[in-house]
This record gives sequence, structure tokens and C-alpha cells, in this order.
Amino acid sequence: MGDTSQWNSQLSFLFAMIGAAVGLGNIWRFSYVVYSNGGGTFFIPYLIAIAILGIPFLILEYGIGYSFKDSFSNVMKRINPKLEFVSWILLLFVFIVLIYYMVILSWDLTYLTSSVTFSWGSDVAAYFVQNVGGSSNLSNLGSLIIPTAIGALIIWVIVWFISHRDLNEGIGKISKILIPALFIIMIGIVIYALTLPGASIGIQTLLQPDWSKLTDINIWLAAFSQILFSLSMGQAIALTYASYLPEGSKINDNVLLVVFANSSFEVFTAFGIFSILGFMSFSTGTPMVQLVSEGTGLIFVVFPMIFNIMGIMGHILAPLLFLAILFAGITSAVAIFEPMVSSMEDKLNWSRKKTVTLLSIIGCAFSLLFTTGISSYLVGVVDGFVNEFGILFLIAIQCIIFAWIYNVDSLIPVINENSRFKVGSLWKAIIKYVLPCFLIAMWLIGVYYLFADVDSFEAIVYVIIMVLVLVFSGILTKINSNK
Ligand code: PHE
Repeated sequence: MGDTSQWNSQLSFLFAMIGAAVGLGNIWRFSYVVYSNGGGTFFIPYLIAIAILGIPFLILEYGIGYSFKDSFSNVMKRINPKLEFVSWILLLFVFIVLIYYMVILSWDLTYLTSSVTFSWGSDVAAYFVQNVGGSSNLSNLGSLIIPTAIGALIIWVIVWFISHRDLNEGIGKISKILIPALFIIMIGIVIYALTLPGASIGIQTLLQPDWSKLTDINIWLAAFSQILFSLSMGQAIALTYASYLPEGSKINDNVLLVVFANSSFEVFTAFGIFSILGFMSFSTGTPMVQLVSEGTGLIFVVFPMIFNIMGIMGHILAPLLFLAILFAGITSAVAIFEPMVSSMEDKLNWSRKKTVTLLSIIGCAFSLLFTTGISSYLVGVVDGFVNEFGILFLIAIQCIIFAWIYNVDSLIPVINENSRFKVGSLWKAIIKYVLPCFLIAMWLIGVYYLFADVDSFEAIVYVIIMVLVLVFSGILTKINSNK
């Protein structure tokens, strides 16, 4: 390995892993997924998805990282030299996620600054279009949204600063500060939200069970996708972080802790989000259905509208919420960055500082493409393709590679050694048979929907991404790592 750094405490690793998992998805995605997939009923498929996908796959990822103690591209190369090409494809897809994830964080930064004076005004939707996310009008492609572009630069500098430092001084330290801070802020927001008038209307709407939905395949798919996304699975993140673990670490037990922290955080936050929506419904008489949304619509349009009518508490809650999103996002961003950093360090035989600096410059230049007048639209198009088509497929492939080409039997004693929670033949059966079938099926369904109504702009973007990813994977594979 080019870099021999190790976590100096189990706590640094644990907080870094929780930081990787807890991100925007836990805040702006989960509650909507619950609401639109059977309310309280959703928790059944959700728990099953944790049991058969989340925990088994993460144990596999941690286990491989921990036992190889090497970067993702080297791990794949050591399993079979022909697999190095595949590893770069995944790493590049994950790097693309980072490129637009930074832009979303830049939108959040704009809102954080606006929340001081509520400069978003009364027409928040218009504010979002003009100053932050732009529109889908392709003629705006030539112009930059200045606050978003400046924000992206600032976020890149922050991430560069954290990542270029030594592992424990950078990612380790920042996670140990930001994650507890995030949890404290969120607990404060949710407890206050629960006391708002109308909170119960919101929570009832969120949890209203619809048992008939249990037989609907879509809620099962939604649960499995939520777990994949929320736990940041299969993107070489857990593998890379676990490769920095010293001997004697607890693998399975750590996985359980991360999964527990991630799910508790999203369930708890969902109660807060829906209480605040309930308050809005109660105060203005707007039906809940008209308020409920997800993603940017929820956080950057509906929430500022609510803060506008909340009085003094709105002025306290608004900055806190945008700060929480920033903290959740930054710890995820450094995690998304790390697989590429560690693999490139090994490939080029460069120091962490030099590798991170080079990759930050390249990444930042690409992020600026996402700060043009079609910012939010382009993020949506690229996100759909990269996740549904690229990453999901590569997760399935990894599962097959680790379970079939690499012999998981030899992994079992290693991961069980220091953990109280032991895995055995059931885990192996899930990894070898259940997950590959399941993941491939999910991929096929996702790809069907993705391509069912693709327009020409989307098609061009998809082709550009595929060409770039394949060409660069080829080039990176060809470079000789002099080792
Ligand atoms: N899990 C993160 C979230 O919930 C998102 C993420 C996905 C981060 C994939 C890294 C990799 O927002």
C-alpha cells in the first residue's frame, strides 16, 4: 500500500462509518419513502431489507476491506488481475456521485446563509430556481449560477482540507466532532417539532398503515433501495474505511452499530419532518398531501415556507436544519471521496496530500459543470443514471465477485474472530444465492424504468458518462503502478 495509515481508535472508525452512512438521504428522503410506501406498513419490508441486504452485505464489505487491508482497485486486482478494469469503473461512478453531491451541499450552503436574514423571501420556489438550482431550460446551460458556483468551490476547499490531512487528523477528527454535533442538533429540532401544534396530524399521516400494500412489489423495492442508498453500500466506501482497521477489530459488531445508528437517525428525523409538516397543515389549513414532498422540494421550498410562518422559532430552526444537512453531507462527501483517493494513491504511488489535491482540482472543475443554469435538472439526470444503471449493477457484480470468485469461507473466521455477533452458513447462503439474484432483479427493473421514457438530452448525458467512464477506466488500468 502507498499509505499505511490506520485508525488510531475504534471510535474514529465508527464515527467515520456513521458519517458515511448518515447523509442527505436520511434527512430528506426517508420520511417520504415511508409515507408513499404504505406508512407504518413500510417498516416490515424495511426491517427485512436490513436483515437480508444491509447487514449481510456490509459485513462482506467490511470483511473484505479488513482482511485485504488494501485499496479497492488493488483488492480487485488481487482477486483476479482482470478485475482491475471493473474496479475503476465503479470508482469513477462513485467519483461522479461526489462531483454532484458537492453541488447539492453548495445549495445547502446558500440556504444556510439565506437563513440568517430569510433572504429567500416569500416566493421560495422562485428563489430556488433563480439563485440555487436553476431550471430544466437547456438554453440556460451557458450561464453559471454564481452563488452555487462559489458554494461548490467553498465546499471543495473544506473537503480538500479534511481529506488531505492524515487519516486520523482529518476524517477521524472531523467525524468525531460533526457526527455528535449533528445528532444533538437533530434531537433538538425533533423534540421541538413534536411539541408544535398539529404535530400529531403529521405523524398520523406518516404512519397511517396500509396493509394491502404488503403485497405490492414496489414497497419492497423501495425498502431495498432505501437501505442500499442510506447505508452507502457497495461503493467501496465501507471497504476502504475498513481497510484502515488495525488487527483485532470487531467487524460484525461494528456493522450492527452503524446500521442501528443510521436507521435510528432516519426514523427519528422522519418524526420531526412530519411534525413540522403537520404544523404547517394545521396552521394554514393546507391538506397534508399538498405539503409532502422529498429532496430539494421538501428542504429548499416547503421548509423555508414553514420557517417563514413560524415566527422567532423559525429563525432558530432554519439555520440549525441547514447546518445539520451540511454536517451530514460533509461527512458523507469525505467518505465518497476516499475510495478514489486510496486507489489513486496506490496506483500513482503518491502521498495522500498530493493525490487529494490533484483529485480535488479535477473534481471541482467537473462540479462547476453542475452549477450552470440547469444545475438541479442535471443533478437529477446524472444521479438517476449513475445510481440506477451504474452503481446498482456494480454492487451486484461485487457481490458475485466476492462470494464466488473470492472464497468467502476463508473470510468467516476472520470477521467472527473478535465479534460477539457471529455469522455462518446462513450468511454465506444469503451472500452467495439470495443477494445476487435480488440485486440483479432490482437492477433490471430500475433500468427498465430508466430507459422507458428517456429523452434525447438524457440519452446524450448517459452516453457521455459511459464513454468517459470506460475510457478513463481503460487508461487507469493501463498505467503501471511501479510496484
Ligand atoms: N447514504 C448517504 C445518504 O443517506 C448517501 C450516500 C450514498 C453517501 C452513497 C455515500 C454514498 O445520504
